[in-house]
Amino acid sequence: MNYLITSITELLTLKGKKSVRIGKELTELEIIKDAAIYISEGKIKYYGKEKEVIKKIKKNKFINIKADGVVMPAFIDSHTHAVFARPRLLDFEMRTQGATYAEIKKAGGGINRSANDIKNSDIEELSRNLIDFSKKFLECGTATAEVKSGYGLDFENEIKILKTVKESQKNAQLEMIPTFLGAHSIPSSFKSSKDYLDYLKKEVVPYVAQNKLAIYADIFCEKGYFEPKEAINYLNHLKKYGLKPKIHADQLTKSGGSVVANKVKAISADHLDFADEEYIKLLKKSDTIATFLPASNYFLGLTKYPDARKFIENANPVSLATDFNPGTSPCWNMQFVISLALTHMKMRISEAIVSATYNAACALEINDRVGMIDLGMDADIIILEVKDHRELGYYFGANLNKITFKKGKIAYEKNNTFRY
Ligand code: NIG
Ligand code: FE
Repeated sequence: MNYLITSITELLTLKGKKSVRIGKELTELEIIKDAAIYISEGKIKYYGKEKEVIKKIKKNKFINIKADGVVMPAFIDSHTHAVFARPRLLDFEMRTQGATYAEIKKAGGGINRSANDIKNSDIEELSRNLIDFSKKFLECGTATAEVKSGYGLDFENEIKILKTVKESQKNAQLEMIPTFLGAHSIPSSFKSSKDYLDYLKKEVVPYVAQNKLAIYADIFCEKGYFEPKEAINYLNHLKKYGLKPKIHADQLTKSGGSVVANKVKAISADHLDFADEEYIKLLKKSDTIATFLPASNYFLGLTKYPDARKFIENANPVSLATDFNPGTSPCWNMQFVISLALTHMKMRISEAIVSATYNAACALEINDRVGMIDLGMDADIIILEVKDHRELGYYFGANLNKITFKKGKIAYEKNNTFRY
């Protein structure tokens, strides 16, 4: 089906250089007012001023959608843990009563609790959950999401999670990009982190790679989880299997995650709440994209957020993601993440938009086809019910998205009321 979208108050194309945006480039949205866009065969065929676009397509058959609002690239969520069996309501209740993330872990909560839940679920159940969640992502304007394993923590259950992603993809319009995060926590059945990493390398990684169950490998580098030295060895080892490195870095303490990212040349280092100037410089040297996950800071009730301004001033590439997971961020809405980036990280709305779209596409290496509106790009776009893009992040806590296109198909449409 072809679509003509008219009455676009602002079309944010984000057209610019075809690699990750840094510094001032993060503020360049390329806004076309009174615009239209024409979608054909899943791709963007024409776009520009409405009058010009209409002249080009008059003989074709299409459905006309009147936007009456802002149109921009759909969000790309480059960091989620979307496969889990149930919410961690007990953990949450403990935290509302003042317990910290570490205290909850000690009391039997945390990642290991989610791992127990996974053990008691099968692929069908997990897949139903994931497909339900995928619809929520689409509803809020996200058309692509990275999805990590990491609540399995043994062969059977890590593979179960990655197979859940693969199976669910057949019935989900949300595009999902899998990451192997076996190194998320140390199961109690292992004596040490070393024993567990050896097990992953020997027993799990070869199967993941042979069956193409993941594109990236991730590790939680933190005190009480995995040390920098072992993270470097592990990620370098997994590179030999074609699994490209990402890392949970310096989330709870300055624990060396950025050093690891620099050494293994990680595509992205995520969280970075405790990355200081020294670490920011290291990340810059390895061209590692800094992915901020402020919804987890919010949900943990923290006052400290990553220092986005320092990263941007040092010309580091940055992106934003939800970190959707049952423990620290039960949030699938990139609009809320953008709002937090503005209010708690002093980012500009333009910087936050580029970080949640084009730069996020770079963090998943799919920026040749999504994250920007240009001729021939996939028609992954959203229509927002605001007239000015600065209202995104200003009106918060609501869903401002009314239509999500994935590869030129309507994947979400509020009330089915926008066709003419
Ligand atoms: O990104 N930090 C490690 N992993 C997740 C939390 C996982 C959990 O608590 O279930 C995160 O915050
Ligand atoms: Fe995470």
